Amino acid sequence: MAEVTLKNIYKSYGKTEVIHGVSCEIADGEFVVLLGPSGCGKSTILRMIAGLEKITAGEIEIGGKVVNDLEPMDRDIAMVFQNYALYPHMSVYKNMAYGLKIRRMPKDEIEKRVQEAANMLGLSGLLARKPRELSGGQRQRVAMGRCIVREPQVFLFDEPLSNLDAKLRVQMRLELRNLHEKMGITSIYVTHDQVEAMTLGDKLVILNNGYAEQIGSPLEVYERPSTLFVAGFIGSPAMNFFRAQVSSGGKHVELPGGDSLPLLDPGISEYSGQEIVLGIRPEHFRVNEDGAGTLHLRVSHVETLGADTLVYGYLGKTETFVTVRLADIHHFKKDAVLSLLVAAKKLHLFDKQSERRIGNTKDDDVL
Ligand SMILES: Nc1ncnc2c1ncn2[C@@H]1O[C@H](COP(=O)(O)OP(=O)(O)OP(=O)(O)O)[C@@H](O)[C@H]1O
Ligand SMILES: [Mg+2]
Repeated sequence: MAEVTLKNIYKSYGKTEVIHGVSCEIADGEFVVLLGPSGCGKSTILRMIAGLEKITAGEIEIGGKVVNDLEPMDRDIAMVFQNYALYPHMSVYKNMAYGLKIRRMPKDEIEKRVQEAANMLGLSGLLARKPRELSGGQRQRVAMGRCIVREPQVFLFDEPLSNLDAKLRVQMRLELRNLHEKMGITSIYVTHDQVEAMTLGDKLVILNNGYAEQIGSPLEVYERPSTLFVAGFIGSPAMNFFRAQVSSGGKHVELPGGDSLPLLDPGISEYSGQEIVLGIRPEHFRVNEDGAGTLHLRVSHVETLGADTLVYGYLGKTETFVTVRLADIHHFKKDAVLSLLVAAKKLHLFDKQSERRIGNTKDDDVL
Protein backbone atom coordinates (compact mmCIF):
# COMPACT_ATOMS: atom_id res chain seq x y z
CA MET A 1 0.00 0.00 0.00
CA ALA A 2 1.16 3.53 -0.69
CA GLU A 3 0.28 7.19 -0.96
CA VAL A 4 0.31 8.84 -4.39
CA THR A 5 1.27 12.47 -4.95
CA LEU A 6 0.82 14.47 -8.12
CA LYS A 7 2.96 17.59 -8.13
CA ASN A 8 2.02 20.16 -10.75
CA ILE A 9 1.56 17.69 -13.58
CA TYR A 10 1.52 18.94 -17.17
CA LYS A 11 0.91 17.02 -20.36
CA SER A 12 1.23 18.21 -23.94
CA TYR A 13 0.69 16.28 -27.14
CA GLY A 14 2.88 18.11 -29.62
CA LYS A 15 2.11 21.80 -29.10
CA THR A 16 -1.26 21.19 -27.49
CA GLU A 17 -1.27 21.28 -23.70
CA VAL A 18 -4.10 19.11 -22.35
CA ILE A 19 -3.21 18.94 -18.62
CA HIS A 20 -2.33 22.31 -17.13
CA GLY A 21 -0.67 21.74 -13.75
CA VAL A 22 -2.69 19.33 -11.65
CA SER A 23 -1.65 18.66 -8.05
CA CYS A 24 -3.25 16.19 -5.69
CA GLU A 25 -2.32 14.19 -2.60
CA ILE A 26 -3.83 10.74 -2.25
CA ALA A 27 -3.38 9.17 1.15
CA ASP A 28 -2.46 5.54 1.73
CA GLY A 29 -5.63 3.47 1.43
CA GLU A 30 -7.74 6.33 0.10
CA PHE A 31 -10.27 5.90 -2.75
CA VAL A 32 -10.01 8.93 -5.02
CA VAL A 33 -12.23 9.55 -8.02
CA LEU A 34 -11.21 11.69 -11.00
CA LEU A 35 -14.50 13.07 -12.28
CA GLY A 36 -15.24 15.28 -15.25
CA PRO A 37 -16.85 15.48 -18.68
CA SER A 38 -15.51 13.70 -21.75
CA GLY A 39 -12.15 15.04 -22.89
CA CYS A 40 -11.25 16.80 -19.62
CA GLY A 41 -8.11 14.68 -19.17
CA LYS A 42 -9.11 11.91 -16.75
CA SER A 43 -7.61 9.01 -18.70
CA THR A 44 -4.50 11.02 -19.51
CA ILE A 45 -3.82 11.63 -15.80
CA LEU A 46 -4.45 7.98 -14.94
CA ARG A 47 -2.19 6.80 -17.75
CA MET A 48 0.57 9.12 -16.54
CA ILE A 49 0.28 7.60 -13.05
CA ALA A 50 0.44 4.13 -14.61
CA GLY A 51 3.48 5.09 -16.66
CA LEU A 52 1.71 4.50 -19.98
CA GLU A 53 2.14 8.19 -20.91
CA LYS A 54 5.19 10.37 -20.33
CA ILE A 55 4.73 13.42 -18.10
CA THR A 56 5.61 16.70 -19.84
CA ALA A 57 6.38 18.49 -16.55
CA GLY A 58 5.86 17.84 -12.85
CA GLU A 59 6.42 14.87 -10.59
CA ILE A 60 4.51 11.78 -9.61
CA GLU A 61 5.40 9.99 -6.38
CA ILE A 62 4.16 6.56 -5.36
CA GLY A 63 5.01 5.49 -1.82
CA GLY A 64 7.29 8.52 -1.41
CA LYS A 65 9.38 7.63 -4.46
CA VAL A 66 9.43 9.71 -7.67
CA VAL A 67 8.34 7.35 -10.47
CA ASN A 68 8.58 9.70 -13.48
CA ASP A 69 11.20 7.53 -15.13
CA LEU A 70 10.01 4.11 -13.97
CA GLU A 71 8.48 1.67 -16.44
CA PRO A 72 4.84 0.64 -15.77
CA MET A 73 6.06 -2.84 -14.71
CA ASP A 74 8.22 -1.31 -11.98
CA ARG A 75 5.59 0.98 -10.48
CA ASP A 76 3.76 -1.71 -8.51
CA ILE A 77 0.35 -0.62 -9.73
CA ALA A 78 -2.47 -2.57 -11.39
CA MET A 79 -4.95 -1.08 -13.82
CA VAL A 80 -8.50 -2.15 -14.69
CA PHE A 81 -9.70 -0.94 -18.09
CA GLN A 82 -13.16 -0.28 -19.44
CA ASN A 83 -12.95 -3.13 -21.97
CA TYR A 84 -11.53 -5.67 -19.43
CA ALA A 85 -8.81 -6.77 -21.91
CA LEU A 86 -9.12 -10.46 -20.95
CA TYR A 87 -7.36 -13.13 -22.98
CA PRO A 88 -10.23 -14.86 -24.85
CA HIS A 89 -8.47 -18.22 -25.30
CA MET A 90 -7.51 -18.58 -21.62
CA SER A 91 -9.67 -19.84 -18.78
CA VAL A 92 -10.65 -17.54 -15.93
CA TYR A 93 -7.97 -19.19 -13.80
CA LYS A 94 -5.26 -18.63 -16.41
CA ASN A 95 -6.38 -15.06 -17.03
CA MET A 96 -5.92 -14.36 -13.35
CA ALA A 97 -2.68 -16.32 -13.02
CA TYR A 98 -0.97 -15.02 -16.15
CA GLY A 99 0.50 -11.81 -14.71
CA LEU A 100 2.04 -13.78 -11.83
CA LYS A 101 3.39 -16.48 -14.12
CA ILE A 102 5.31 -14.00 -16.25
CA ARG A 103 6.75 -12.61 -13.03
CA ARG A 104 7.95 -16.16 -12.32
CA MET A 105 6.05 -16.58 -9.09
CA PRO A 106 6.11 -20.16 -7.66
CA LYS A 107 3.14 -22.26 -8.75
CA ASP A 108 1.72 -22.92 -5.30
CA GLU A 109 1.80 -19.20 -4.43
CA ILE A 110 -0.05 -18.44 -7.70
CA GLU A 111 -2.63 -21.11 -6.85
CA LYS A 112 -3.14 -19.63 -3.38
CA ARG A 113 -3.58 -16.06 -4.63
CA VAL A 114 -5.95 -16.98 -7.48
CA GLN A 115 -8.12 -19.10 -5.17
CA GLU A 116 -8.26 -16.30 -2.59
CA ALA A 117 -9.17 -13.65 -5.14
CA ALA A 118 -11.75 -15.94 -6.79
CA ASN A 119 -13.30 -16.53 -3.40
CA MET A 120 -13.49 -12.85 -2.64
CA LEU A 121 -15.07 -12.10 -6.02
CA GLY A 122 -17.50 -15.03 -6.13
CA LEU A 123 -15.69 -16.59 -9.09
CA SER A 124 -14.67 -19.90 -7.49
CA GLY A 125 -17.15 -21.94 -9.51
CA LEU A 126 -16.19 -20.31 -12.81
CA LEU A 127 -12.41 -20.78 -12.90
CA ALA A 128 -12.47 -23.26 -15.80
CA ARG A 129 -14.65 -21.11 -18.06
CA LYS A 130 -13.50 -18.94 -20.93
CA PRO A 131 -14.36 -15.22 -20.88
CA ARG A 132 -16.98 -15.66 -23.63
CA GLU A 133 -18.90 -17.99 -21.29
CA LEU A 134 -19.28 -15.24 -18.67
CA SER A 135 -21.71 -12.37 -18.18
CA GLY A 136 -20.46 -8.78 -18.40
CA GLY A 137 -20.36 -8.45 -14.63
CA GLN A 138 -18.43 -11.71 -14.23
CA ARG A 139 -15.89 -10.60 -16.85
CA GLN A 140 -15.48 -7.37 -14.97
CA ARG A 141 -14.79 -9.36 -11.81
CA VAL A 142 -12.15 -11.45 -13.59
CA ALA A 143 -10.45 -8.22 -14.69
CA MET A 144 -10.52 -7.13 -11.04
CA GLY A 145 -9.24 -10.52 -9.90
CA ARG A 146 -6.29 -10.27 -12.24
CA CYS A 147 -5.31 -7.04 -10.48
CA ILE A 148 -6.00 -8.28 -6.95
CA VAL A 149 -3.69 -11.32 -7.26
CA ARG A 150 -0.81 -8.96 -8.02
CA GLU A 151 -1.26 -7.38 -4.56
CA PRO A 152 -0.22 -4.00 -5.94
CA GLN A 153 0.42 -0.83 -3.97
CA VAL A 154 -2.12 1.09 -6.04
CA PHE A 155 -5.21 0.21 -8.10
CA LEU A 156 -6.08 2.33 -11.13
CA PHE A 157 -9.53 2.08 -12.72
CA ASP A 158 -10.55 3.71 -16.01
CA GLU A 159 -14.37 3.70 -16.27
CA PRO A 160 -14.47 -0.01 -15.38
CA LEU A 161 -18.27 -0.20 -15.19
CA SER A 162 -19.27 1.73 -18.28
CA ASN A 163 -19.94 -1.39 -20.39
CA LEU A 164 -22.44 -2.81 -17.92
CA ASP A 165 -26.18 -2.21 -17.84
CA ALA A 166 -27.61 0.14 -15.24
CA LYS A 167 -28.60 -2.51 -12.69
CA LEU A 168 -25.32 -4.37 -12.85
CA ARG A 169 -23.44 -1.08 -12.55
CA VAL A 170 -25.14 -0.40 -9.24
CA GLN A 171 -24.31 -3.92 -8.01
CA MET A 172 -20.66 -3.74 -9.12
CA ARG A 173 -20.35 -0.31 -7.55
CA LEU A 174 -21.30 -1.79 -4.18
CA GLU A 175 -18.97 -4.73 -4.70
CA LEU A 176 -16.09 -2.41 -5.53
CA ARG A 177 -16.70 -0.37 -2.41
CA ASN A 178 -16.85 -3.54 -0.26
CA LEU A 179 -13.71 -4.85 -1.85
CA HIS A 180 -11.95 -1.60 -1.13
CA GLU A 181 -13.03 -1.68 2.48
CA LYS A 182 -11.73 -5.24 2.80
CA MET A 183 -8.39 -4.68 1.07
CA GLY A 184 -7.70 -1.00 1.79
CA ILE A 185 -5.52 -0.56 -1.30
CA THR A 186 -5.02 3.02 -2.49
CA SER A 187 -7.34 3.41 -5.49
CA ILE A 188 -7.68 6.00 -8.23
CA TYR A 189 -10.87 5.69 -10.23
CA VAL A 190 -11.86 7.56 -13.38
CA THR A 191 -15.48 8.17 -14.30
CA HIS A 192 -17.77 10.77 -15.84
CA ASP A 193 -20.69 9.37 -13.82
CA GLN A 194 -21.28 11.59 -10.81
CA VAL A 195 -23.37 9.04 -8.92
CA GLU A 196 -20.55 6.53 -9.19
CA ALA A 197 -18.13 9.21 -8.04
CA MET A 198 -20.25 10.34 -5.09
CA THR A 199 -20.86 6.79 -3.85
CA LEU A 200 -17.37 5.35 -4.33
CA GLY A 201 -15.00 8.18 -3.56
CA ASP A 202 -13.54 9.24 -0.23
CA LYS A 203 -12.34 12.23 -2.21
CA LEU A 204 -13.21 13.65 -5.62
CA VAL A 205 -11.00 15.55 -8.03
CA ILE A 206 -13.32 17.49 -10.35
CA LEU A 207 -11.57 18.10 -13.65
CA ASN A 208 -12.52 20.62 -16.30
CA ASN A 209 -10.54 21.07 -19.45
CA GLY A 210 -7.25 19.85 -17.97
CA TYR A 211 -7.56 21.81 -14.70
CA ALA A 212 -8.50 20.45 -11.26
CA GLU A 213 -11.43 22.75 -10.38
CA GLN A 214 -12.02 21.37 -6.90
CA ILE A 215 -10.71 18.58 -4.68
CA GLY A 216 -12.89 17.54 -1.77
CA SER A 217 -15.16 14.96 -0.22
CA PRO A 218 -18.40 14.15 -2.09
CA LEU A 219 -20.40 16.24 0.37
CA GLU A 220 -18.01 19.17 0.18
CA VAL A 221 -18.31 19.42 -3.58
CA TYR A 222 -22.10 19.09 -3.34
CA GLU A 223 -22.59 21.56 -0.50
CA ARG A 224 -19.81 24.04 -1.24
CA PRO A 225 -18.93 23.88 -4.92
CA SER A 226 -16.05 26.30 -5.38
CA THR A 227 -16.82 27.24 -8.99
CA LEU A 228 -19.82 27.56 -11.29
CA PHE A 229 -18.55 24.59 -13.26
CA VAL A 230 -18.51 22.27 -10.23
CA ALA A 231 -21.89 23.60 -9.08
CA GLY A 232 -23.42 22.80 -12.46
CA PHE A 233 -21.67 19.47 -12.88
CA ILE A 234 -22.47 17.92 -9.48
CA GLY A 235 -26.14 17.22 -8.81
CA SER A 236 -28.94 15.90 -10.98
CA PRO A 237 -31.06 17.59 -12.17
CA ALA A 238 -28.45 20.33 -12.38
CA MET A 239 -28.42 23.40 -10.15
CA ASN A 240 -30.52 26.38 -11.34
CA PHE A 241 -28.51 29.53 -12.05
CA PHE A 242 -29.97 33.03 -11.98
CA ARG A 243 -28.49 36.43 -12.69
CA ALA A 244 -29.28 38.24 -9.47
CA GLN A 245 -28.68 41.66 -8.01
CA VAL A 246 -27.30 42.08 -4.48
CA SER A 247 -29.25 44.79 -2.58
CA SER A 248 -27.44 47.92 -1.53
CA GLY A 249 -27.04 46.75 2.06
CA GLY A 250 -25.95 43.26 0.97
CA LYS A 251 -28.82 41.67 2.89
CA HIS A 252 -30.91 40.46 -0.07
CA VAL A 253 -30.59 39.27 -3.63
CA GLU A 254 -33.14 40.27 -6.21
CA LEU A 255 -33.99 37.80 -8.95
CA PRO A 256 -35.28 38.42 -12.47
CA GLY A 257 -38.96 39.34 -12.18
CA GLY A 258 -38.48 41.12 -8.87
CA ASP A 259 -38.68 38.30 -6.30
CA SER A 260 -36.15 38.80 -3.52
CA LEU A 261 -34.40 36.38 -1.15
CA PRO A 262 -32.71 37.17 2.16
CA LEU A 263 -28.98 36.47 2.43
CA LEU A 264 -27.26 35.07 5.49
CA ASP A 265 -23.75 36.11 4.89
CA PRO A 266 -22.66 39.63 5.83
CA GLY A 267 -19.40 38.98 3.93
CA ILE A 268 -21.29 39.61 0.72
CA SER A 269 -21.46 43.38 1.30
CA GLU A 270 -18.56 44.09 -1.08
CA TYR A 271 -20.95 42.95 -3.82
CA SER A 272 -23.65 45.46 -2.76
CA GLY A 273 -25.56 46.73 -5.76
CA GLN A 274 -23.75 44.35 -8.12
CA GLU A 275 -24.92 41.50 -10.28
CA ILE A 276 -23.86 38.00 -9.26
CA VAL A 277 -24.85 34.47 -10.21
CA LEU A 278 -27.20 32.79 -7.75
CA GLY A 279 -27.41 28.99 -7.68
CA ILE A 280 -30.26 26.96 -6.18
CA ARG A 281 -30.47 23.17 -6.40
CA PRO A 282 -33.83 21.80 -7.63
CA GLU A 283 -34.19 19.73 -4.45
CA HIS A 284 -33.86 22.75 -2.17
CA PHE A 285 -37.16 24.38 -3.08
CA ARG A 286 -40.26 23.80 -0.99
CA VAL A 287 -43.82 24.69 -1.95
CA ASN A 288 -45.50 27.03 0.50
CA GLU A 289 -49.15 26.01 0.54
CA ASP A 290 -50.43 29.27 2.03
CA GLY A 291 -48.87 31.31 -0.74
CA ALA A 292 -46.35 33.19 1.40
CA GLY A 293 -43.26 31.88 -0.41
CA THR A 294 -40.54 34.18 -1.60
CA LEU A 295 -40.24 32.93 -5.20
CA HIS A 296 -42.96 32.44 -7.76
CA LEU A 297 -42.91 29.68 -10.36
CA ARG A 298 -45.20 29.54 -13.37
CA VAL A 299 -45.58 25.85 -14.15
CA SER A 300 -44.79 24.73 -17.67
CA HIS A 301 -44.68 20.95 -17.32
CA VAL A 302 -44.51 18.28 -14.65
CA GLU A 303 -42.82 14.86 -14.60
CA THR A 304 -44.03 12.48 -11.91
CA LEU A 305 -41.31 9.91 -11.25
CA GLY A 306 -42.98 8.12 -8.35
CA ALA A 307 -40.50 8.82 -5.59
CA ASP A 308 -40.41 12.46 -6.59
CA THR A 309 -41.80 15.00 -9.02
CA LEU A 310 -39.88 17.32 -11.32
CA VAL A 311 -41.62 20.61 -11.96
CA TYR A 312 -40.36 22.80 -14.79
CA GLY A 313 -41.43 26.37 -15.24
CA TYR A 314 -40.52 30.03 -15.27
CA LEU A 315 -39.69 32.54 -12.59
CA GLY A 316 -42.68 34.87 -12.07
CA LYS A 317 -43.57 36.58 -15.34
CA THR A 318 -40.07 36.16 -16.82
CA GLU A 319 -38.66 33.64 -19.28
CA THR A 320 -36.07 32.45 -16.72
CA PHE A 321 -36.33 28.66 -16.64
CA VAL A 322 -36.41 26.83 -13.30
CA THR A 323 -36.32 23.16 -12.35
CA VAL A 324 -37.81 22.12 -9.02
CA ARG A 325 -37.64 18.67 -7.48
CA LEU A 326 -40.25 17.81 -4.87
CA ALA A 327 -40.51 14.60 -2.87
CA ASP A 328 -43.59 12.40 -3.56
CA ILE A 329 -46.23 12.77 -6.20
CA HIS A 330 -47.73 16.16 -7.09
CA HIS A 331 -50.15 17.23 -9.79
CA PHE A 332 -49.89 20.84 -10.89
CA LYS A 333 -51.69 22.32 -13.86
CA LYS A 334 -49.85 24.18 -16.61
CA ASP A 335 -49.63 27.90 -15.83
CA ALA A 336 -50.43 27.35 -12.15
CA VAL A 337 -48.30 29.69 -10.03
CA LEU A 338 -46.45 28.02 -7.15
CA SER A 339 -45.18 29.92 -4.18
CA LEU A 340 -41.73 28.55 -3.30
CA LEU A 341 -39.47 28.79 -0.30
CA VAL A 342 -35.74 28.18 -0.15
CA ALA A 343 -33.61 28.31 2.97
CA ALA A 344 -30.99 31.08 2.93
CA LYS A 345 -28.29 28.55 3.81
CA LYS A 346 -29.04 26.67 0.58
CA LEU A 347 -28.16 29.60 -1.67
CA HIS A 348 -24.93 29.46 -3.65
CA LEU A 349 -23.41 32.73 -4.82
CA PHE A 350 -20.80 33.10 -7.53
CA ASP A 351 -18.79 35.99 -8.92
CA LYS A 352 -20.01 36.71 -12.44
CA GLN A 353 -16.53 37.27 -13.88
CA SER A 354 -14.29 34.80 -12.05
CA GLU A 355 -17.14 32.23 -11.68
CA ARG A 356 -15.77 31.49 -8.21
CA ARG A 357 -17.86 31.00 -5.10
CA ILE A 358 -18.35 34.13 -3.00
CA GLY A 359 -19.38 34.58 0.64
CA ASN A 360 -21.61 31.93 2.14
CA THR A 361 -18.66 29.57 2.48
CA LYS A 362 -18.40 28.97 6.20
CA ASP A 363 -19.25 25.44 7.27
CA ASP A 364 -22.12 26.42 9.51
CA ASP A 365 -23.72 28.47 6.76
CA VAL A 366 -24.18 25.68 4.34
CA LEU A 367 -24.25 22.46 6.32
N1 LIG B 1 -2.56 10.64 -28.06
C1 LIG B 1 -3.15 11.84 -28.07
N2 LIG B 1 -2.78 12.81 -28.94
C2 LIG B 1 -3.34 14.02 -28.94
N3 LIG B 1 -4.32 14.40 -28.08
C3 LIG B 1 -4.73 13.49 -27.20
C4 LIG B 1 -4.18 12.17 -27.13
N4 LIG B 1 -4.80 11.50 -26.14
C5 LIG B 1 -5.70 12.37 -25.62
N5 LIG B 1 -5.66 13.56 -26.23
C6 LIG B 1 -6.48 14.76 -25.90
O1 LIG B 1 -6.32 15.04 -24.53
C7 LIG B 1 -7.53 15.46 -23.96
C8 LIG B 1 -7.86 14.59 -22.75
O2 LIG B 1 -8.13 13.29 -23.19
P1 LIG B 1 -8.52 12.10 -22.20
O3 LIG B 1 -8.54 10.84 -22.96
O4 LIG B 1 -7.63 12.16 -21.01
O5 LIG B 1 -9.99 12.54 -21.77
P2 LIG B 1 -11.02 11.81 -20.78
O6 LIG B 1 -11.34 12.80 -19.70
O7 LIG B 1 -10.49 10.48 -20.37
O8 LIG B 1 -12.30 11.66 -21.71
P3 LIG B 1 -13.38 10.45 -21.84
O9 LIG B 1 -14.34 10.63 -20.71
O10 LIG B 1 -14.02 10.74 -23.17
O11 LIG B 1 -12.63 9.16 -21.80
C9 LIG B 1 -8.57 15.40 -25.06
O12 LIG B 1 -8.77 16.69 -25.55
C10 LIG B 1 -7.95 14.50 -26.08
O13 LIG B 1 -8.38 14.84 -27.38
MG1 LIG C 1 -11.11 8.49 -20.75
